[in-house]
Amino acid sequence: MLEPGPSATASYACDVSEADTSAAREDELVAFRSAAHALVDGVADHLAALPSRPVWQPVPDALRTQLLGLPLPEHPTTLDELVATALRDVLPHAMGNGHPAFFGWVNPPPSTAGIMASLAAAAMNPSVVSGDHADVHLERAVVRWLAELVGFPHAPGAGLLTSGGSTATIVCLAGARSRALAAGGHDLRRDGLAGAPQLIAYVPAEAHSCVRRALELLGLGSSAMREVPLEGGRLDATALRASIGADRASGALPALLVGSAGTVNTGAIDPLDALADVATAEDLWFHVDGAYGAFGVLDAAIAARYRGMERADSLVLDPHKWLGVPVDAGCALVQRADDLRDAFSLIPPYLRQDAHAPVGTFAEYGLEQTRPFRALKTWATIAVRGRAGIAAQVARANALARELATLVEREPELELAAAPETSIVAFRARPAGYPPARLDGLNRALPEAVQARGRAFVTGTVFGGRETLRACILHPNTTSEHLASLVAEVVATARTLVASE
Ligand SMILES: Cc1ncc(COP(=O)(O)O)c(C=O)c1O
Repeated sequence: MLEPGPSATASYACDVSEADTSAAREDELVAFRSAAHALVDGVADHLAALPSRPVWQPVPDALRTQLLGLPLPEHPTTLDELVATALRDVLPHAMGNGHPAFFGWVNPPPSTAGIMASLAAAAMNPSVVSGDHADVHLERAVVRWLAELVGFPHAPGAGLLTSGGSTATIVCLAGARSRALAAGGHDLRRDGLAGAPQLIAYVPAEAHSCVRRALELLGLGSSAMREVPLEGGRLDATALRASIGADRASGALPALLVGSAGTVNTGAIDPLDALADVATAEDLWFHVDGAYGAFGVLDAAIAARYRGMERADSLVLDPHKWLGVPVDAGCALVQRADDLRDAFSLIPPYLRQDAHAPVGTFAEYGLEQTRPFRALKTWATIAVRGRAGIAAQVARANALARELATLVEREPELELAAAPETSIVAFRARPAGYPPARLDGLNRALPEAVQARGRAFVTGTVFGGRETLRACILHPNTTSEHLASLVAEVVATARTLVASE
């Protein structure tokens, strides 16, 4: 036992033990209880008011200036003042994803269960790495739940929560790189990439940019990416295998094949089973990006389209997307836990813990050492709805997307860019008589112009080489009226833009 002797006590005379810290703490908690209750009421009022407010509005100039120039406070601010400021100056000026007419990017509203759980998680404030505390065990259970929800095989340790899909992708592809180089006889952890064979990754054109970024970060370089030949959603396996063979013949090491379980532009599901067949035959790591769309498998109407997802070596899915877990919550799942452990595990003496736990610590499987308690809000969000409730929400979003596609097709001044497979609808404006050569410019300008009107929020992309709008339906309270309003807003805004030219 390390106990200070009498001389140590004498030489460190200080008044720490004399201050009445327990009384101060009591006062602090009284203030916390009262301010936090006010905050909860204010947050509930904010959530109740959202649907009747504009979806999004620019931050008023004066407030923006004030926020950007906030001076560092020299003296304490009370909790009551903090609550009042947050409710007045911060919450009303959000990005808009709390509103049921928000269709931008892939950003749902937060689940109320997740909001509550975030408070409790912050009150515990653990570093979820290892040890015998509830947060560690809960993350293990939640990762298993996520795997069960989407039908992915799961062994203890074979997955972890991350800050999002981008990080989970880096984690998974680091596992792929490590396994491929080890099989090629190269010691990556000792030698880095120096002298390593050139790894090759086969990536569909519609894969999310986080895949390319991960490959660049991991030192493969974007020139090591080959496009996967997908025509109309079908894989040309012969062409893909020929491309793999050519790379092998040139001395490179084909390592990775990527598929999307829901692309970001149109929500399309790649032919995962066919991709898995090629990956198996060619001994490639098969990675599936289900950050947005993996939960779509819960919709019985399209579940069959996901066949092959369960064969992936790694699967990324984001609870902070379709499930509505408050940001941040991504998840990396792998078939073999050791693929990640081999890539990441490094335990210096000052971090030894759980030396005898077969799966080790979470820090051995990913990028983070100090890890936030993401599992509580994920647990709460799933538990409050249950599998059946989540499945119903997913199926409803997909049905709304089909309904929106029908509205678009019925509107002569719009055209559908792709038939929706999940809950994303890609479409374009084409006002009557408008010169085709200028349609790209118009569709490029449309999303921001629609957003500025405050009645619907849609974002843009480029799909099939053309400027395209995309509406992503994730809000559980979005209704047919919101869809009709989106269509009307896009048509009206396009007419206004054309008239102002
Ligand atoms: C298909 C897909 N993959 C990956 C990502 C990246 O996920 P995150 O933003 O959580 O890093 C996104 C984000 O929208 C996505 O839609």
